[in-house]
Amino acid sequence: MIDKLKKYLKEVENFYSENSTEIEAFRISYAGKKGILSSLFSSFRDIPPEQKKNYGKELNKLKEAVSLKVEYLKSKSKWESKKSKINDPTRTSFQIQSGNRHPLSIVKKRIIDIFTQIGFSISEGPEIEDDWHNFTALNLPPHHPARDMQDTFFIQTNPDILLRTHTSSVQVRHMESNKPPIRTISPGRVFRNEAISSRAHCIFHQIEGLYIAKDVSFADLKQTLKYFTESLFGNSNIRLRPSYFPFTEPSAEVDIYWGLETEIDYRITKGTGWLEIMGCGMVDPNVMENCGINPKDYSGFAFGMGIERIAMLLYQISDIRLFFENDVRFLKQFKATL
Ligand code: DAH
Repeated sequence: MIDKLKKYLKEVENFYSENSTEIEAFRISYAGKKGILSSLFSSFRDIPPEQKKNYGKELNKLKEAVSLKVEYLKSKSKWESKKSKINDPTRTSFQIQSGNRHPLSIVKKRIIDIFTQIGFSISEGPEIEDDWHNFTALNLPPHHPARDMQDTFFIQTNPDILLRTHTSSVQVRHMESNKPPIRTISPGRVFRNEAISSRAHCIFHQIEGLYIAKDVSFADLKQTLKYFTESLFGNSNIRLRPSYFPFTEPSAEVDIYWGLETEIDYRITKGTGWLEIMGCGMVDPNVMENCGINPKDYSGFAFGMGIERIAMLLYQISDIRLFFENDVRFLKQFKATL
């Protein structure tokens, strides 16, 4: 009897197939209701008592070998059929990651959406500008001290050509080639000769806004800015603080109320609770005249903001350099937002 068991065990050990029907037939022939194992178990009672222990041991060994073999062959045949399907030599071995918009693009798009909803068009201009559009037409004649506020990259061979320091240059171009009413925003990249730090970079982005029509007042400016900050930041308080820009008169800085709840709030608002988010004012009559619009017939307002600054506030980002380093660990955090 023991020899018979050993013979079966050899047979089980030698069995091999990748065909699932053959594997199943093998399983039934051994472990099925009327299979070999079942008949071997029932013949247990005919074994002489002194051989029972040995027989039982060998029988269990055989049973275990059958179930192990079936399990192994089944999973192997599954893998073999799957492997043949995924064996695509053009596939990379890395998981392909889908990209997402850059946080600055997300914020730019949100700002554009807010203004286009109230009738603003989008206008663009060149990044390499001439002195007229970037400075002189904006009431900043040569040697005007306010030029120092915007450290400029000039083209060495031609001091009339420069990298624009603000997108206000686009308002000049737009007024030169359009008649009022004008309602436009100009997003774009700007350049300043700044030392790079956590707060400053020599390349950054701005959005300029311009509205010129009949009887536009300072109240219209304030209302438009209130609509904008509420759309972007939720229910927020703003204040207009008197300031100076050569191209607007009067001029103001727009502050948003940030709060003073935490130590960080104290630090970023310098203990005031207020944060500056943009500059604005009523377009100076000289600027309108420079661009061919009669200030006796029309009035208007303008504003300008840094997209990085707004994005830093919205997402609580403390270092402007993160926007330009293109570290995917930073960028992929904005996947869910759009
Ligand atoms: N051009 C200004 C700057 O870059 C921002 C600005 C302030 C634009 C006031 C405006 C304005 O149109 O009215 O700092």
